[in-house]
Formats: sequence, C-alpha cells, structure tokens
Amino acid sequence: MRRGAVLPGATALAATAACFGCAKGRELPMTTLAPKSDLAEWIYHLFIQITLWDALILAIVVTAFILAVFVFSTRVGEAAPPSSAASDLGLEVAWTVGPALILLMISIPTVRTIFRSQPRIPPTGSLVINVTAHQWWWEFSYQDSGVETADELHLPTGRPIRLHLLSNDVIHSFWVPQLGGKRDVVPGQVNELTLEAFVPGTYLGQCAEFCGLSHANMKFRVMVETPGQFASWERSEQAASSQNPSPAAAEGAKIFANSPCTTCHRIDGVSKGYIGPDLSHFGTRTTLAGGVLSNTPVNVAKWITDPEAIKPGAQMPRLGLNGEQLNDLVAYLESLK
Ligand code: CUA
Repeated sequence: MRRGAVLPGATALAATAACFGCAKGRELPMTTLAPKSDLAEWIYHLFIQITLWDALILAIVVTAFILAVFVFSTRVGEAAPPSSAASDLGLEVAWTVGPALILLMISIPTVRTIFRSQPRIPPTGSLVINVTAHQWWWEFSYQDSGVETADELHLPTGRPIRLHLLSNDVIHSFWVPQLGGKRDVVPGQVNELTLEAFVPGTYLGQCAEFCGLSHANMKFRVMVETPGQFASWERSEQAASSQNPSPAAAEGAKIFANSPCTTCHRIDGVSKGYIGPDLSHFGTRTTLAGGVLSNTPVNVAKWITDPEAIKPGAQMPRLGLNGEQLNDLVAYLESLK
C-alpha cells in the first residue's frame, strides 16, 4: 500500500523534473513565476500570498483530520462519546469567524490588485498601442508614431504602456505570462491593459481564449528593449521600407505588385491591403505566420506555398508560383527592412 503510494509520486516528480529539463532547453519559457513587469509582479505576489493562506488552511484541516482519526476516534469496544459539540457555542463561533477572517485576508489583497492593475486613466507619459486580434494573428499599431507591425510587439523598459485591445472578429485573449494578462479581447469593445516592463528580453505571448481552428497558432513575441534600442527600432519602422536591390528581389517586387497579395497586405508605397499583416518591414521580423515559424527564406517559401498546412483555416490562398517566382518573391520580402 505504502509502496504503491510512493511510486506514482516518484514518477510524477521524475516527469516534472524531465519537463523542467525540456523547458530549460527551449528558447522562451511561458511562466508566470518569473515576472518581468509591475503587473506580472503584482499578480505573482498575490498568487504567493494566497498560496500561503491555502497552505495554512490545508495544514489545519489535515491536522484536525489526523487528530480525529488517530487520537480522538472511538476504539473497538469503547462506548461512543457524548455528543456535546453541537451545543458548544465557543467552537461554533471559532469555526465561523476563523474561515471568515482567512477569506478576508485573501479578498483584501485580491480586490486591491484588481483595482491597482486596472487604472481608469493611463499613467502620464504612457506609450499607447492599439492591439487588434485577428483570426489568427496580432496587429500592433503605435498611436503616436503611426508604426504598424504584426506578431512582434516592441516595448521600452521604464515607461508605462497602455494597450487598447480590440478584436476584428471573435473573442481572443491577450496573454504574455511574464508581462501580464490574460485580458479578453472582445469584438465591439475596447479593453485596456496597463503595465511597465522592467527587464529587457524577448517574452512569448499566446492567445488564451479558444478562437477557432488555429487558436493554438496565435502566438506572438514581446521584445522589451532599453529606451534607446526602442527609439532606434521605432525610427527604422517609421522610415520608408528600404529594399535590397538584388536582381531576384527586383523580380520579386514585380511579382508581388501584380499578385493578389496586394489586396490583403500593405507595403509602404506599393500596396494598401489591410486584411493581413503589414509587410513594409517584414525582413526585420524574427517570426512569421502568427509567430509559428522563424523568419528564414525556407520558412517563408513554405508558408507562401501552402499556408493552410502550417496554419489550418488561414485565409491566405495558395498562389501557385513556380520555383523561380517563389524564390524571387521570398528574396523581395526578406529584403524589406
Ligand atoms: Cu485568438 Cu485564440
């Protein structure tokens, strides 16, 4: 019996250790236990506080259970004890007031965190960004600079960030475990998220509300940079997209301009599509297809050849290009810096 109980426990521990091993090997952990913004830190501290209260409750309940079973239980042949507990007023008051106090200790910090994390007025000097969720990618639009990008959100450290969350279709949920969220993104209304990131780094985000076939493929990255790095990124995004003048890229530019791509994608000075991501500075991004693939020529070619195979339900059609046309188009897109 004892052995049987220990073995599953050991197996679970080994599995957990193995899992941590896997997570360590991965580039970006998704964890709420390593907060990198004020919002994530408040939520983390609340979690720890409530877990400690829960542990106290567990200890009291288990102790009472052990005492009831092993110390105060009736032995075989013994007469049942007189039932006096029902009339013990002191005990009644204790087990009513005790849990009520514990609930109060849990609810006070919870309510305080809810209000603290949802300021109605954005802090002064906030960087305001519109976040629009689409099936299945994220559009980021910086209100002041007019910069538009997709699936990669750049933020500076040490400045309050105000995100306006909008949906283009169904309900999604914005979640970057190390920075904050989850907050639902609901069609027809603007939800807000306010945070300040502390530590430069790349943090993985994920849509956290089932939103259709490729919900699991609706990832994104948040690049938190020093104010200087952020300003230089923003300047390069504001500048007209530069293009590598290689012959392949020049051919690719012609293919793009004459293709249905232009109906859905905007490229600075070339096309005005707005259904899919803005591609003006596509070559500067590290990922594509809702953060599912890293941005390499091979992956871009795979994506253009058969989007549906990578992201089921994707609206992007197959173009049916031949090998040379595909290579030229990929060279053009990768050259957009
Ligand atoms: Cu968007 Cu799930």
